[in-house]
Amino acid sequence: MTLYDAIFIRRSVRKFNNSPLDAAAIKSIEKFIEDTPPLTGQSARFEIVSADKVHGGASAPHYILAYCNESDSAYANVGYVLQNADLYLQSIGLGSVWLGMAKPNEPERDYCILLAFGKTDVPIRKAEEEFKRLPMSEISDQDNSVAKAVQLAPSAVNSQPWKLHFESGKVVIRYFGRGLMKLMLRKKLNKIDLGISARHVETALLHEGKTILSITPKTSGKTFEIEIAYK
Ligand SMILES: Cc1cc2nc3c(=O)[nH]c(=O)nc-3n(C[C@H](O)[C@H](O)[C@H](O)COP(=O)(O)O)c2cc1C
Repeated sequence: MTLYDAIFIRRSVRKFNNSPLDAAAIKSIEKFIEDTPPLTGQSARFEIVSADKVHGGASAPHYILAYCNESDSAYANVGYVLQNADLYLQSIGLGSVWLGMAKPNEPERDYCILLAFGKTDVPIRKAEEEFKRLPMSEISDQDNSVAKAVQLAPSAVNSQPWKLHFESGKVVIRYFGRGLMKLMLRKKLNKIDLGISARHVETALLHEGKTILSITPKTSGKTFEIEIAYK
């Protein structure tokens, strides 16, 4: 299964099998993350740990901890890189879930978020109707396959804090806070969400045979957006 295919079948998995993955499987996941380039000008650190190093987790055997500096663009970069891992894990038949509420037992100052994963018996999604999402008209000025990929993207509390704007050779994802918890999500989790949506835009554009020219996060005052240029 390709990463693009995984967009249409993935789900947040919160129930895992007891048997952990072996060292070789963990190594290849580590390598996949290492090989995923960050957003331009951004960096982050990732570490895979086992359940005894984390609390508030979803009983998963493994956790990818993400560390970065405190800025909108750095948070978006973590979303962008780790969403590639989320799609990869689900494409090889594993379960995964982003967990903003879980924490490492000994968090370092630059701890950002984690992605839990492991073997699971929870089935993949069979049809698009299984996704609970906002109508296209609320998230995008065009209804096309790139917007569809973003519509299905995961987000904190399913807040879907994005609006897509299409121009020739360009997709702009603007932060747009939604829901009762928007003040709580605005600082960090919704910026991670924007990075996640940029990953889905890129994956859909590549699937259409496009070449990505740049993916640039931009903060200005209270606005935050990610611009994806392609040809
Ligand atoms: C940044 C982020 C943080 C999240 N934190 C949690 C969490 O703490 N607990 C949880 O059960 N799910 C968490 N989720 C999963 C979302 O609730 C889930 O992605 C959303 O409801 C959509 O469902 P789906 O992923 O199954 O499509 C988080 C997702 C994201 C992207």
